[in-house]
Amino acid sequence: MARLLLSLSLFLLLVSMTTGLKPRLHRDRRNIRPNIILVLTDDQDLELGSLQVMNKTRRIMEEGGTSFTNAFVTTPMCCPSRSSMLTGKYVHNHNTYTNNENCSSPSWQRQHEPKTFAVHLNNTGYRTAYFGKYLNEYNGSYIPCGWRHWVGLIKNSRFYNYSLNVNGFRREHRDRYPQDYFTDVITAEAQKFFRASKRTYPHRPVLMVLSHAAPHGPEDSAPQFSALFPNASQHM
Ligand SMILES: *[C@@H]1O[C@H](CO)[C@@H](O)[C@H](O)[C@H]1NC(C)=O
Ligand SMILES: *[C@@H]1O[C@H](CO)[C@@H](O)[C@H](O)[C@H]1NC(C)=O
Ligand SMILES: *[C@@H]1O[C@H](CO)[C@@H](O)[C@H](O)[C@H]1NC(C)=O
Ligand SMILES: *[C@@H]1O[C@H](CO)[C@@H](O)[C@H](O)[C@H]1NC(C)=O
Ligand SMILES: *[C@@H]1O[C@H](CO)[C@@H](O)[C@H](O)[C@H]1NC(C)=O
Ligand SMILES: *[C@@H]1O[C@H](CO)[C@@H](O)[C@H](O)[C@H]1NC(C)=O
Repeated sequence: MARLLLSLSLFLLLVSMTTGLKPRLHRDRRNIRPNIILVLTDDQDLELGSLQVMNKTRRIMEEGGTSFTNAFVTTPMCCPSRSSMLTGKYVHNHNTYTNNENCSSPSWQRQHEPKTFAVHLNNTGYRTAYFGKYLNEYNGSYIPCGWRHWVGLIKNSRFYNYSLNVNGFRREHRDRYPQDYFTDVITAEAQKFFRASKRTYPHRPVLMVLSHAAPHGPEDSAPQFSALFPNASQHM
């Protein structure tokens, strides 16, 4: 079923500048470009208050960065918004109007996916990697253009019992904690990629997307947090 009801997803952007380069590296323009880490959360709606109980996230993002008090999404619905974020196009230009039709469709794959920011950044020398939820109807049958390293969730948000496409191979996850817990899995995979990339190509900038399902339902909390809000009746 389409999840049309909940509005804004909040896109949290962290840009960390590469610092401490040795002087000899400055000759190569690529070496001074920043790493880009885009952290996406899902259904992180200010009005519904989920951020009010995520103090650690707020501390890291607000104190470590910037808050935009006057920010907008053009179409506050999941797949249309994700398609806009990937391409920079309005919905009427990428034609993904809902979470079903044209969401990861063959026409999207042919016309729009070859022009995402991943393709452009990869072409200029960024090491690109995607971890987590992609387009709602992404079915794992291909790796989207531009991503050198791909750990994409097949279909919509889940914390347990889901499938990933990992660099072209399907991987099933059951419901053991922490090795199957989606939030932890994509975080660990992203850290592994970043370290390996910097070890092997210390002078190449990295673009990573960490696309979390949380705090989107189903409300399968990690065990250590499961007793924090005994009176909450729904995730909103
Ligand atoms: C989060 O911070 C607010 C304000 O500082 C505080 O009232 C609240 O108890 C904190 N919540 C948790 C879960 O720590
Ligand atoms: C899907 O996209 C194609 C071309 O991008 C467009 O012609 C078509 O009308 C779209 N379908 C729907 C249902 O919006
Ligand atoms: C996945 O979607 C593609 C179209 O994008 C379709 O051709 C293919 O049959 C689908 N595969 C599965 C397993 O549903
Ligand atoms: C990334 O860009 C390089 C150089 O243009 C190209 O050879 C490679 O196929 C691209 N990789 C992906 C995953 O798009
Ligand atoms: C995962 O799937 C198994 C087998 O179908 C089921 O018993 C279990 O309850 C599921 N776990 C969750 C968290 O949905
Ligand atoms: C939950 O509700 C009960 C009954 O209203 C109350 O006694 C308790 O203090 C509440 N717990 C929290 C953590 O708010």
